Amino acid sequence: MTDGIRVEQVTKRYGQQVLFADIDLHVQDGEFLVIVGPSGCGKSTLMRIVAGIEPVSSGRVTVGGRDVTHAHPGDRGIGMVFQDYALYPHLSVEGNLAFGLRAHRVPKDVIRQRIADTGEALGLTDQLKKRPGQLSGGQRQRVALGRAMIREPAAYLMDEPLSNLDAALRVQMRAELIEFHRRTRGTVLYVTHDQVEAMTMGDRVAVLNEGEFAQIGTPSEIYERPATVFVATFLGSPRMNLLDATAHPYEDEVELTSGELKWRLPRKGLPADLPESVRIGFRPESVHARVDDGTPACPLAATVSYRENLGNESILHLRDSTGRPIVARLPPRTGPRDGEHATFQVPLTDLHLFGPDGRACWHGIELAADGQPLPWSA
Ligand SMILES: Nc1ncnc2c1ncn2[C@@H]1O[C@H](COP(=O)(O)OP(=O)(O)OP(=O)(O)O)[C@@H](O)[C@H]1O
Ligand SMILES: [Mg+2]
Repeated sequence: MTDGIRVEQVTKRYGQQVLFADIDLHVQDGEFLVIVGPSGCGKSTLMRIVAGIEPVSSGRVTVGGRDVTHAHPGDRGIGMVFQDYALYPHLSVEGNLAFGLRAHRVPKDVIRQRIADTGEALGLTDQLKKRPGQLSGGQRQRVALGRAMIREPAAYLMDEPLSNLDAALRVQMRAELIEFHRRTRGTVLYVTHDQVEAMTMGDRVAVLNEGEFAQIGTPSEIYERPATVFVATFLGSPRMNLLDATAHPYEDEVELTSGELKWRLPRKGLPADLPESVRIGFRPESVHARVDDGTPACPLAATVSYRENLGNESILHLRDSTGRPIVARLPPRTGPRDGEHATFQVPLTDLHLFGPDGRACWHGIELAADGQPLPWSA
């Protein structure tokens, strides 16, 4: 077994601009790691650094345990699939697949066999004689993947490989890539803008922002226990609701006041050094018309500005009693109508608290070992 991909203490500068400083990332052998982050944060630059198309300002890159920091792109054991595919338009599918192997003087019969195998694996057997211009978007995308696979690389780099496809094809290719990864257990470093790709494809997700990784974790860790306000609001659509609040400790409770809201939380389980000034976060799906399973919940009085009925769910745009916008996601055809006033419920288990520095200080109230909510008084 090899060692996947390691980025160690890598810094990248363009002139005076420091894109990132001393960042570390380890994509484990066989792991599918997804990088997300706002436009311009340096995702593609990091990919190009690992690929060897862009030099590091300082630091080290290893692939399969081998230091490749100064190795030629073709000698890094990496297969690349990028957004624009970069297929050779004048070569057939076969020619595109064979190109890298020919450049490396792989014997002809080996090339022929690998083209047949790769074509078969990707459902391209009938397309081998065509040129890229004669293929559909999904087929072109598969040729780009095939061209990376055929070299039998130690690791793959994929930079928004599905972003040029229409929605239906993207769903299909996403499933194919997941299946490809399950089958081959290759090491994959994958960049996307797509929330669903990030949540469904990655064994882990790394959130890059302002020159550092804000959080690296499994999709559910990132979603359920976001480390910062940035991570909390970057993943999830509609984004997490945030309310500025003040925390007042009482004997065995903490009262959070925000606008006209007064929410009481059991002190047990809250950090002892909870700051006085906090931000309360809760996702749209945590705002319920009512909670009937006995989970303790905070009341939220609000008026419906307007509803978006999406068929499989309804998004309610609310204003609380002080006029602050709040978004709720409810099952279809449920909850109050446009203009109606109602008291919604936000379960304590679903609250997040962030400190003034933007770091999370608490996620959700714990339930007791028997699954019952801990004692709580309104
Ligand atoms: N060759 C270059 N010279 C100077 N600045 C560059 C160069 N290449 C990229 N940059 C800058 O580096 C920053 C990061 O670019 P990069 O392409 O890595 O972003 P990204 O995270 O991939 O964004 P997107 O999500 O839009 O693809 C940008 O501000 C960009 O302008
Ligand atoms: Mg990019």
